[in-house]
Amino acid sequence: MSNSGELKTDVMRETLPLLPLRGLIIFPYMVSPFEVARDKSISALEEAMLYDRLIILSSQRQAKVYEPYPEPGDIYEVGTMAEIKQLLKLPDGTIRVLVEGRCRVNINCYQQTEPHYRVKFDVIAECSEKNVETEALMRSTLYQFEQYIKLSKKIPPEVMTSVNNLEDPGRMADIITSNLNLKLEEKQEILEAVHPRERLEKLCSFLVKEIDILEMERKIHLRVRKQMEKTQKEYYLREQMKAIQKELGDQDDRTAEVEELRNKLAQLNLPEEVEEKALKEIDRLAKMPPMSAEAVVVRNYIDWILVLPWSKLTEDRLDVTTAEQILNEDHYGLEKVKERILEYLAVCQLTKQLKGPILCLIGPPGVGKTSLAKSVARAINRKFVRFSLGGVRDEAEIRGHRRTYVGAMPGKIIQIMKQAATKNPVILLDEIDKMSADFRGDPASALLEVLDPEQNCAFGDHYLEVTFDLSKVLFITTANTYQGIPRPLLDRMEVINISGYTEEEKLEIAKRHLLPKQTKDHGMTMDELIIPDLVLRQVINGYTRESGVRSLERQLAGVCRKAAREIVQTSKKPIRVTKTTLHKFLGTEKYHYNVAEEQDQIGLATGLAWTEVGGDILTIEVTLVKGKGQLILTGKLGEVMRESAQAAYSYIRSRASELGINEDFTEHYDLHVHVPEGAIPKDGPSAGITIATAIVSALTNRPVRKDVAMTGEITLRGRVLPIGGLKEKVLAAYRGGIKKVIAPRENQKDLEEIPANITRKLDIELVESMDDVWRQALAPISEGASTLN
Ligand SMILES: Nc1ncnc2c1ncn2[C@@H]1O[C@H](COP(=O)(O)OP(=O)(O)OP(=O)(O)O)[C@@H](O)[C@H]1O
Ligand SMILES: [Mg+2]
Repeated sequence: MSNSGELKTDVMRETLPLLPLRGLIIFPYMVSPFEVARDKSISALEEAMLYDRLIILSSQRQAKVYEPYPEPGDIYEVGTMAEIKQLLKLPDGTIRVLVEGRCRVNINCYQQTEPHYRVKFDVIAECSEKNVETEALMRSTLYQFEQYIKLSKKIPPEVMTSVNNLEDPGRMADIITSNLNLKLEEKQEILEAVHPRERLEKLCSFLVKEIDILEMERKIHLRVRKQMEKTQKEYYLREQMKAIQKELGDQDDRTAEVEELRNKLAQLNLPEEVEEKALKEIDRLAKMPPMSAEAVVVRNYIDWILVLPWSKLTEDRLDVTTAEQILNEDHYGLEKVKERILEYLAVCQLTKQLKGPILCLIGPPGVGKTSLAKSVARAINRKFVRFSLGGVRDEAEIRGHRRTYVGAMPGKIIQIMKQAATKNPVILLDEIDKMSADFRGDPASALLEVLDPEQNCAFGDHYLEVTFDLSKVLFITTANTYQGIPRPLLDRMEVINISGYTEEEKLEIAKRHLLPKQTKDHGMTMDELIIPDLVLRQVINGYTRESGVRSLERQLAGVCRKAAREIVQTSKKPIRVTKTTLHKFLGTEKYHYNVAEEQDQIGLATGLAWTEVGGDILTIEVTLVKGKGQLILTGKLGEVMRESAQAAYSYIRSRASELGINEDFTEHYDLHVHVPEGAIPKDGPSAGITIATAIVSALTNRPVRKDVAMTGEITLRGRVLPIGGLKEKVLAAYRGGIKKVIAPRENQKDLEEIPANITRKLDIELVESMDDVWRQALAPISEGASTLN
């Protein structure tokens, strides 16, 4: 132990107790407190207090080592000599010390290790020499430190003022270092740097590094804060909006509404693409003020998505026998169509799926096209929806408008799917020949996609924006004529022709379907109203003129009405309708069909015409008038018919001598061809042979046989070409009391369509040339008739 004499000159002492510091370094001139708990350290403190309160403080390399040993170098060699300013024993046995650093020391050797370390040391002399370089370093250090303070905000600004006043470079470095938040090794490095310049340089580099870190920290902090602020702001605004909406009383409805939409969506099992789209829209909706126009649009859109049958199917009845039964129940006749539909069902029964042709029923009005399609749906047990294309002339009507348009809606096809509410209905596209196109685009081109089995599994509607699968739909289309149907559409469909009904068929339809339906609708039974066949025929022929049965149905409804009134007024049952009562009920007959002439006539031939409402008899009159060989045509004839007459005329002139016609008749006569019922327009080439016959008759004075009717196109060489609508024409001839029908040989195939009971009673002559026609149609020259000369 040293004596007290040595105490005075503390710096002169060679040995002092050592206190190993953990995790901190005390710099000269620095006053700082720390706590001491280890016995060894307390013992060192006690020794120091006994003498001159001086102690060596040096840091352990590793703070967590409890008992550091000098030998493996657990304690740094460079430390600080410090004076203990204050000691305070705490109740838990630890001691709180306040020390002030004096100077740097270098520990030379450990003189004693128990009960505490005591070391021999050298004081490291401070050099306070200043030159330009140190001055520059000092300034730059100060500047950096200033930055550091600004950034870190942990150091009180007074430190800066006190540091500013320092003259000594070494001291400045020490004080600044002790204020920094450096790592222990870094601080130690500065402690070990003897020369102030070295010290300042090190300090500067540490400062730069620290500033960088702080800068980065600040940036991160700013970013985080910004984000925080944003979300906070949004949260705040949303809360505010909620509050406002709550005040307005619709917030709860809105969240409930959005929730409900989400739930509905989840239950629907939609295709993935659709569900995603719908979810997105619902999210958009949730963010919109409920009453805004846009919210209404979005809401509408979501409703459409939710209501469409994306995956709902009904089960098909593919049983052919039952289907046949149902089809027969609903309609009489129409064998060809029914057969085709049943074949189709049979194939489906085998392949277990309904996919295939798109049927197109073409026929005159009222023959049951629309109602047949309905019946097909009933037969296979599917939903039925009808969409009339008559007058549609805008592509958007089929495909919809984009949502950007005000009041946009999906197209008709999607609307129909909504109406059908299943993915596999029967859709009847009625009257596709009545569609038209204009500047807004061609609806037919949109239909192409709908009716193409290869494409319609992904039908694109402008409004929906997602594709809809139409491949499970059974499409049936109808039209009155081929002419109006766009070619590419016609190409995709399987056409089934429905021709008009014969009188016999109409009679059957009336008895089996129309009458039962009408009597029921008028509250009667079939027993209460008796209409004999004869009277029914009269209704058919005298009060209607049509291929179908629509106006027949109307007339029968008229009869039922009158009968009902009679029953109510006279309570007489049953009512028997006779020819006379029919007159009373329906008035006088509206139509009479042309009938055969009473006798053979010269220059008058009977032709057969096809009209929209079936066939009819057509007489053609030819007469000679004084003139110069001109051909006069009257009777509202169309271009084709006029040309046909010209051809007939030329052909006859070319063969005049053979036919026994005076060749220079053209010098003296004009030929006038007239087709009566002159107000009704007529056209087509099929009257060619009739005109020719009438002309020859007029020129040769041979009468035309009254019971012969003919149809056929004529060529300049006298050949007879085929015509259309033979069935209707033959029916008209039969009705008109004709015995023999002359028709082109090439029309032989059409004879199959004509009911056998009619072909049996009529003589149908198939011809190839005009000579054949005349042989059949012209009677021998009547006696007393004057020939031309
Ligand atoms: N073969 C038939 N058997 C029973 N009823 C029939 C038959 N043909 C037509 N009808 C009846 O005639 C009426 C008219 O038929 P529908 O409306 O289907 O004609 P359409 O061919 O669609 O005519 P349009 O071309 O004018 O649309 C319906 O009440 C239908 O039931
Ligand atoms: Mg119809």
